[in-house]
Amino acid sequence: MAQFDPDELTAAVIARMQDAPDPRLRQIMAALVRHLHGFAREARLTQDEWLAAIEFLTRTGQTCDAKRQEFILLSDTLGLSMLVDAINNRRAGKETPSTVLGPFYVPGAPDLPIGSDIAANTSDGVKTLVQGRVLDGAGKPVADAVLDVWQTAPNGLYDVQDSDAPEFNLRGRFRTGADGAFNFITVKPVSYPVPTDGPVGKMLLALGRHPYRPAHLHFIVSAPGFETLTTHIFVRGDEYLSSDAVFGVKDALIVDFAPGREPGTLIANFDIVMKRAGG
Ligand code: BEZ
Ligand code: FE
Repeated sequence: MAQFDPDELTAAVIARMQDAPDPRLRQIMAALVRHLHGFAREARLTQDEWLAAIEFLTRTGQTCDAKRQEFILLSDTLGLSMLVDAINNRRAGKETPSTVLGPFYVPGAPDLPIGSDIAANTSDGVKTLVQGRVLDGAGKPVADAVLDVWQTAPNGLYDVQDSDAPEFNLRGRFRTGADGAFNFITVKPVSYPVPTDGPVGKMLLALGRHPYRPAHLHFIVSAPGFETLTTHIFVRGDEYLSSDAVFGVKDALIVDFAPGREPGTLIANFDIVMKRAGG
């Protein structure tokens, strides 16, 4: 049996994959092996440390179920989700930038008429009108754009985290007309901690990191002929804008929540500029 000098081991593992029929898989796995081996060398990983890492990853998998995705949370808190987003979603000029999807998106939110209140079942919080237009890169309105929106309640929990919340609370889908305009009522988003009761929470604590995300409202915007956009709007002035636990903040997504027409309400204006598919 061939013996490998530690310095030759990396090349030997990569050579063993040469016959994999899928060239992209070969390329990805070779890069993974190179970087994993480089990581172990650079950190001078001990046996006990590697065993602790395997136990951590095992607990991360065991924490996942139909409503909880601890691996996405791990990817998000290590900045990997935003790196993959940056590699794949380059947007130029005025096009609205993308940011993390996060683990709390639920498909199938109700289709609502423009102007609906997605916070009708939420008694506390500051009522807020969110309004804007969906535009193309030339500033022309985009008709038939669908905005799928979701956010936490003022208690910092998504409906799927709170057994007292009605199904699809603070979620809705809105379709633009010929003028590209949308508006809906909600409550002002609050900053909230990512789930901390699992291995990722323990990791953040051990690293001296806080678990908070700055207040935000999620959007997925799709329209015929345009790339689907997954993004947020963030509340200007939030104390966590410069230390988001998942590194998702981009300046162009920070929006003023200004006093609204009715006393005690707010208004947030935000135009969404879509990127043409294949453009
Ligand atoms: C969120 O904003 O819903 C989220 C994003 C990443 C990790 C956890 C939560
Ligand atoms: Fe969120």
